[in-house]
Amino acid sequence: MAGNLIIPSFSLHSSLAAWIQLISSSFLDKSSSSHHNYRNSKGSTDFCVRNIDHAAFGRREIEIAEQEMPGLMALKKRAAADKPLLGAKIIGCTHITAQTAVLIETLVALGASVRWAACNIYSTQNEVAAALAEGGYPIFAWKGENEEDFWWSIDKCINNEHWQPNMILDDGGDATHLMLKKYPAMFSSIKGIVEESVTGVHRLYQLSKSKKLTVPAMNVNDSVTKTKFDNLYSCRESILDALKRTTDVMFGGKQVLICGYGEVGKGCAQALKGMGCVVMVTEIDPICALQACMDGFRVVKLNEVVRQIDILITCTGNKNVVTREHLDRLKNGCIVCNMGHSNTEIDVGSLRTQELTWEKVRSQVDHIIWPDGKRIVLLAEGRLVNLSCSSVPSFVVSITASTQALALIELYNAPAGRYKDDVYLLPKKMDEYVASLHLPTFDAHLTELTDEQAKYLGLNKAGPFKPNYYRY
Ligand SMILES: NC(=O)c1ccc[n+]([C@@H]2O[C@H](COP(=O)([O-])OP(=O)(O)OC[C@H]3O[C@@H](n4cnc5c(N)ncnc54)[C@H](O)[C@@H]3O)[C@@H](O)[C@H]2O)c1
Repeated sequence: MAGNLIIPSFSLHSSLAAWIQLISSSFLDKSSSSHHNYRNSKGSTDFCVRNIDHAAFGRREIEIAEQEMPGLMALKKRAAADKPLLGAKIIGCTHITAQTAVLIETLVALGASVRWAACNIYSTQNEVAAALAEGGYPIFAWKGENEEDFWWSIDKCINNEHWQPNMILDDGGDATHLMLKKYPAMFSSIKGIVEESVTGVHRLYQLSKSKKLTVPAMNVNDSVTKTKFDNLYSCRESILDALKRTTDVMFGGKQVLICGYGEVGKGCAQALKGMGCVVMVTEIDPICALQACMDGFRVVKLNEVVRQIDILITCTGNKNVVTREHLDRLKNGCIVCNMGHSNTEIDVGSLRTQELTWEKVRSQVDHIIWPDGKRIVLLAEGRLVNLSCSSVPSFVVSITASTQALALIELYNAPAGRYKDDVYLLPKKMDEYVASLHLPTFDAHLTELTDEQAKYLGLNKAGPFKPNYYRY
């Protein structure tokens, strides 16, 4: 049996055995002592949040997020009369933030009913969860859940005698996997799964490969709008925010080295150049290196500039890009941080030796001091610096969330046979639609193809405008 299990991404589950124990043990059937029994103003107790009294504060947070989520708000307005999700019963397992609340309320306005849990034990905004609970949505989430709470909350969403889910919106795959393992009959009646994260998508492909995926699933992680906006544009802004909040550094004239000139590296390089930094780049790929040259950046090896740089940022998705040897040679005061997914890009472990002193100077900021007095400034211990030290703009989340909503609508309404039990990318036309929902914010006016032009290019005037292989 163990051989068939797929280990969840959830970081606390360090071993397969621990996970098996977690989902098979009886604790899922009973309330943990840390659960709070509140009643909202309409008398409902079908939720579990930290403190329902903070609902008004959470409602304000949601209203602020709505201002910067034009795609979702437009979708809500355009489709509310059609109710394309009428009858959809969606299990949600995502970060519970003000932006997610806007998504939840949009899905409900489109006709769905939902039950929602957190996909991460730390990221829930308690006041937002309270506002949703007060609004009558069954939310099971609070910041600082333990492992038992985490699985209990997802289980409370799935297992309800008056409500049988038919769709899953997942971020990381934990709701999908709990249902598959514990409620296989319910799982087979699901109409579709929408998955947002790299890890969750990876797990879906594994299920598909081993023929255990018995429902169609949509991979929204790899839709163009998500990749471009999350990786390039969001990082372009959040790298500056993260560096400023943690170090108050003056950017002008600083020598910055960016390792990796992919989407994330391009965003960081552009932003820092704009602030007057002298930006250099390292690359392994000649195409990306040439792009960096054409964009006006010097392409160097880390070894060549290691003694002169003021800020070092890794964005490669690789490991051991910055080693102890490099760190030993950095100049006094150099700021070191990582924008890539994993915390292995900088060999932070190699800094935990006796001769080096660690001094925590702020939250997420450590000074590492060498015996000769040299110090470097390490941010977020080498974890994703923007997610650890700054916030993600609601506008970017609006794009991803609109993609998720459209994926749910597509899977829920697709005629039998359009999707088999496999993992799909969102149709390009929908990606284009998500982008178009965000254009009015900028008063952007699209040019329409003439009949003659459409014929010449072999396109439908309403799109899609690019083939699937087009790289934006
Ligand atoms: N911080 C965030 O908010 C955020 C957002 C999206 C993605 N990410 C993560 O950032 C990382 C990069 O994402 P991306 O979309 O730019 O990927 P990408 O593949 O487009 O770019 C990575 C680049 O690094 C280069 N590279 C690999 N090893 C290298 C090395 N040893 N030295 C120099 N260059 C090297 C590759 O050739 C590639 O061009 C990934 O881990 C991704 O998951 C972070």
